[in-house]
Amino acid sequence: MPLERKSLQLLNDALDRLDAGFAHLPDYDSPVPGGERMALVLNQAAARLRDNYPYFHPLYAGQMLKPPHPVARAAYALATWINPNNHALDGGRASSAMEKEAVAEIAAMFGWSAHLGHLTGGGTMANLEALWVAARLQPEKKIVASAQAHYTHERIGGVLGLPFEKIPADARGRMDCLALEQRARRGDIGCVVATLGTTGVGAVDPLPDILRLRDRYGFRVHVDSAYGGYFTLADNLSAEARAAFDRIHEADSIVIDPHKHGLQPYGCGCVVFRDPAVGALYKHDSPYTYFSSHDLHLGEISLECSRPGASAVALWATQKLLPLLRGGEFAAGLSASRRAALELARRLAGEPRFVVPFKPELDIVVWAPRAQSASLASAASQRIFDTAAQNELHLALIQLPVAFFADKWPELEKDRDHMLCLRSVLMKPEHEEWIDEITAGIICAEAASRQEADRA
Ligand SMILES: Cc1ncc(COP(=O)(O)O)c(C=O)c1O
Repeated sequence: MPLERKSLQLLNDALDRLDAGFAHLPDYDSPVPGGERMALVLNQAAARLRDNYPYFHPLYAGQMLKPPHPVARAAYALATWINPNNHALDGGRASSAMEKEAVAEIAAMFGWSAHLGHLTGGGTMANLEALWVAARLQPEKKIVASAQAHYTHERIGGVLGLPFEKIPADARGRMDCLALEQRARRGDIGCVVATLGTTGVGAVDPLPDILRLRDRYGFRVHVDSAYGGYFTLADNLSAEARAAFDRIHEADSIVIDPHKHGLQPYGCGCVVFRDPAVGALYKHDSPYTYFSSHDLHLGEISLECSRPGASAVALWATQKLLPLLRGGEFAAGLSASRRAALELARRLAGEPRFVVPFKPELDIVVWAPRAQSASLASAASQRIFDTAAQNELHLALIQLPVAFFADKWPELEKDRDHMLCLRSVLMKPEHEEWIDEITAGIICAEAASRQEADRA
């Protein structure tokens, strides 16, 4: 039975305790419409859900996908019996307090004792709020992010009507700070998005250099660490990545996604601001909500209105079980993921049939099958991806600039700007134990792909 279910008993016990808190209310029978057919429908749902890749299994080594920690799953489910809404305190008193505590722990992980922040539906919404604040503080100025930043920034620029520009990335996928400086000289940049952990290759933008330019050119710095933020706790980063994470507290705002590396179910992003005074920008009237308390209602400092209190309860419980501490159990998981990525990259780089353009900075490995041209390598990547999946090894694909391979693969015929490559996010600590199987599966898929190409 590969699916964890010990937590079901713990959930049942916790439900008893929750129930006891309401035992003084008059008894009543809660009508459950359709209750008799529930088993049938649930079984149908289970049957439908089988149509998924096995994200929980170490042989799923593709996208940034994994199930939440059992405590998060159980705490989330527990909270749904109440279904609190963290918009206003009358919708979710306990869960709002838990959200404030959990977010304060995230801010503290980044070195902030004072902050303003809250959870969001995800990284996109969290980044939208950060860029919205940046644009209100520096209206008419441009937002810039590296060419390897998540597409969401350009899109948010479109949604908010903000001018947006891309800064070129270097051959390791990091923002090119010489290009940023050239661009900054024009004096019209309001906010630089520094990505600490790009979605594609896990590159870490050189935050110390960006902060130096901020001192000279006066723009805001927003760190998008939706994927990479928790790696600040890892003990095995490269010196450059460590230097970037060590200065993260100097950013004006930070985004981190607990639903990526924070072991949470989807629907849990987070934005934190260094200066709590930005809360004034959110000021709005709501005649129907903020009446139950003079304490801060989270809806007063967020753009979303209704939000799941269950997300906050799940995050709070996870951080109680696995505190966000360097040297702790949670941090050990991130270090293990990076070790797994370094090891897979080392093994693939040792195979003449593959080219690894650079060492993984976090836990994402990218590589290409050796072929005469970028087009042929792209076709081979697709075949390897398909064959591996048929053998239950699930990888991912990514279009990378061929310029990333300039050093390691000078003889590559560059008949295209971008090449389809293989990508693997080793975000489950268990991946480290499965590197033999993963490597063997990749090699086996490559051999099959080569045979297929020869036959064609
Ligand atoms: C760096 C980065 N920013 C933003 C996002 C968007 O986050 P979400 O998918 O939670 O909206 C992602 C998603 O992978 C990401 O990796």
